[in-house]
Amino acid sequence: MDSEKAHPPKQASTHHGVKNLLYSDALQQYILKTSVYPREHELLRQIREATVAKYDASKSVMYVPPDEGLFLSMLIKILKAKKTLEIGVFTGYSLLTTALALPEDGKVTAIDIDREAYEVGMPFIQKAGVKDKINFIQSDGLSALNNLLKNKHESEFDFVFIDADKANYPNYHELVLKLVKVGGVIAYDNTLLFGLVTLSDDEVPEDFPQHVKDGRKAIVKLNKFLASDSRVEVSQISIGDGLTLCKRLC
Ligand SMILES: C[S@@+](CC[C@H](N)C(=O)[O-])C[C@H]1O[C@@H](n2cnc3c(N)ncnc32)[C@H](O)[C@@H]1O
Repeated sequence: MDSEKAHPPKQASTHHGVKNLLYSDALQQYILKTSVYPREHELLRQIREATVAKYDASKSVMYVPPDEGLFLSMLIKILKAKKTLEIGVFTGYSLLTTALALPEDGKVTAIDIDREAYEVGMPFIQKAGVKDKINFIQSDGLSALNNLLKNKHESEFDFVFIDADKANYPNYHELVLKLVKVGGVIAYDNTLLFGLVTLSDDEVPEDFPQHVKDGRKAIVKLNKFLASDSRVEVSQISIGDGLTLCKRLC
């Protein structure tokens, strides 16, 4: 029923280069200006600015929005996470967020097929003094996860953040479930995908690129699957572009 659908995706905003599922840009700006920007780490702000300067708006918008960054940072601290895993680094906004939130002896294993974008954020990561906490692996996500399993890293990670190719999310799920500890948390980003999850295939506007359309199908499949996956406790968070938390139960 139309009344149950989200506003059409064309109204899902990327205003000021920040992803926003809220229907009011004024409200999003209120949140950012009141409680987010004053607490955003200076070097995270600089990564954001360097990303916007380097890429056009359709690409630069890929970084995790700063309100979600603060949420992830708090979550990592609440979990007292020491070992974390990230798939989808881009220029390193979520990676620097994680490295700053981890304790001195914490480590984040970060996977991305694109090293060039990671290099854009590298000077800021170095300046923040957290580079030694990062193990960057240039690889496609599935191969890297299979290698971690082959090299006996099962049940090793306290927290896993997935923000890469959406079409593979259902495949990532089976692998990261083995890599995260019982009691640990997997967080999937973009699980509301500009509101596209509420539309049928025919209703997705033509101007969305094919990879977004494919990603939408995978996200819809994942969301449905997670709802009945008894191995995890699930919470759908309406922050950024939608974030789903899965706590491994067994
Ligand atoms: C949305 S961006 C990640 C944004 C990042 N978390 C941040 O806060 O800036 C998605 C990233 O996933 C990477 N990616 C896409 N497909 C991938 C794959 N098959 N394996 C690993 N990384 C992939 C892209 O290179 C891109 O850097």
